[in-house]
Amino acid sequence: MVESFIITIDGLASSGKSTIAKMLASKLNFYLLESGSLYRLVTYWFLNYFKNQENPLEEIEKLFKEVKIDLTSKGTLIYWKNRFLKEELRSKEVEEWVSKISSLKEVRNFLTSYMRELTWDKNLVAEGRDMGSVVFPWARFKIFLTAKEEIRARRRHGELTLKEKRSYEEILKNLKERDELDSTREVSPLVIPEGAYLIDTSYLSPEEVLEKILRLIKNYEE
Ligand code: DC
Repeated sequence: MVESFIITIDGLASSGKSTIAKMLASKLNFYLLESGSLYRLVTYWFLNYFKNQENPLEEIEKLFKEVKIDLTSKGTLIYWKNRFLKEELRSKEVEEWVSKISSLKEVRNFLTSYMRELTWDKNLVAEGRDMGSVVFPWARFKIFLTAKEEIRARRRHGELTLKEKRSYEEILKNLKERDELDSTREVSPLVIPEGAYLIDTSYLSPEEVLEKILRLIKNYEE
């Protein structure tokens, strides 16, 4: 059995997970699994291409045979039919539906196995909602990030490109709805994984959060 080093970063939407996970993976030269992108991919495809109502699982399996996932230390890049998918996965429609699609048991079970296979034997920073609790409970090091609601909405607002722009109020409303759905769903709800370090990023810069995590890892290793 290969011993890989897995660090999980879970947390609420826009708590800084994605920025911090990117910085940490780059710094350690680990692969970066952005699990939210895979849930967004399934949602995007459900909204645009879903046909076989009878057997959604079969369709998801077909989709993942056609998709190419490039796992790098800079991010999880998704190609479908020779197209690089990025803005499509962050559209208003995907944001509105992603929590609902993510709560489906078939989708979660499929992606949990898929992500384990994709990252097998790799040193990994895994970022998402259930990385430390369900997908990689054996991870060597677990982080959980939080931040105040208004601060998270402001961050999200600042991140969106002009094409994706929505009002701050609309984003805050969507965040609240997603927090509620992500935390109360039956299958793999967003929880603080056992043994995780909790960090409130509300008043910390990304560099300060990274510094904190690196210090924690160093202490843990010693
Ligand atoms: O991190 P993100 O905003 O890209 O995630 C988008 C959605 O995907 C989020 O609202 C919930 C879902 N998700 C999930 O259910 N489990 C994960 N491990 C990652 C994301």
